[in-house]
Amino acid sequence: MKSLINALAASSHAVALTGAGISTLCGIPDFRGAGGLYSSSNVDAERIFDIAWFDRDPSIYYRAAKKLVYNLHAFSPGPVHKALKVLQDVGILKGIITQNIDMLHQRAGSNDVCEIHGSPIVHSCRKCARSIDFDRILQLIDANGGIEALGEKYIPHCECGGIFKPDITFFGEALPEQAYRSAIVLASRADILLVLGTSLRVFPAAGLPDLTLKSGGKLFIVNAQPTDFDIYSESTYDDLSVFASEIEAHFRC
Ligand code: OAD
Repeated sequence: MKSLINALAASSHAVALTGAGISTLCGIPDFRGAGGLYSSSNVDAERIFDIAWFDRDPSIYYRAAKKLVYNLHAFSPGPVHKALKVLQDVGILKGIITQNIDMLHQRAGSNDVCEIHGSPIVHSCRKCARSIDFDRILQLIDANGGIEALGEKYIPHCECGGIFKPDITFFGEALPEQAYRSAIVLASRADILLVLGTSLRVFPAAGLPDLTLKSGGKLFIVNAQPTDFDIYSESTYDDLSVFASEIEAHFRC
């Protein structure tokens, strides 16, 4: 980890690209890692975040998401979220691009978080496009049997009869334009891109490291499984807990 720490100490414009792997340390499963959501025997796994399936049968999403999304207060930011906040505080990290929808970077106190796969903080009706905030969705769930009923006996509906969908980017939908544009700028300007806990299998997010490389920046990847970008990385590491404790040890004031 020494070359990563030295590079960060000399960096003036580091950026992090984070994925579901950083939240496994908080107890939230990832998608493609060992024991991830997509590697389980759940036959509906690939349909959970698919817009065509959502419109056909929203219970697939709501059943899977009841613990992942609507029970988020049960999870707290983990060591990587906290380590990135430390790097922001000392002025090394200039931005965080996340594919995660758990809002844990913000809860760790980070600002400049670019959520390229959207967020459940807003839900929009599929029929009339009316938007409501996350607290209102939680109230609706509470008033209709609580989390256990979600996706089983209850699906959040708008007054117009349409179904509420979180503003998470599902497969088949475009990325949020503003967030994706900001991510492109951040990745292109980064002198170091820290790629943390992502399989880099989902595009266009997985194309961002290429922008850093083409602009002359360097990649450092920390991920338990190999990725297609490992050969372009200055160094690769496999343990996010070690990464987080090294950052804390070297940069916490
Ligand atoms: P993945 O599940 O594809 O990748 C997470 C990676 O983190 C895996 O390669 C794990 O091996 C690694 N990992 C897990 N815990 C780790 C640890 N403690 N230390 C080191 N590595 C660890 O998640 P993403 O790349 O984020 O899309 O997935 C991208 C997108 O695919 C998600 O945003 C989601 C999904 O479909 C939407 O929700 C729209």
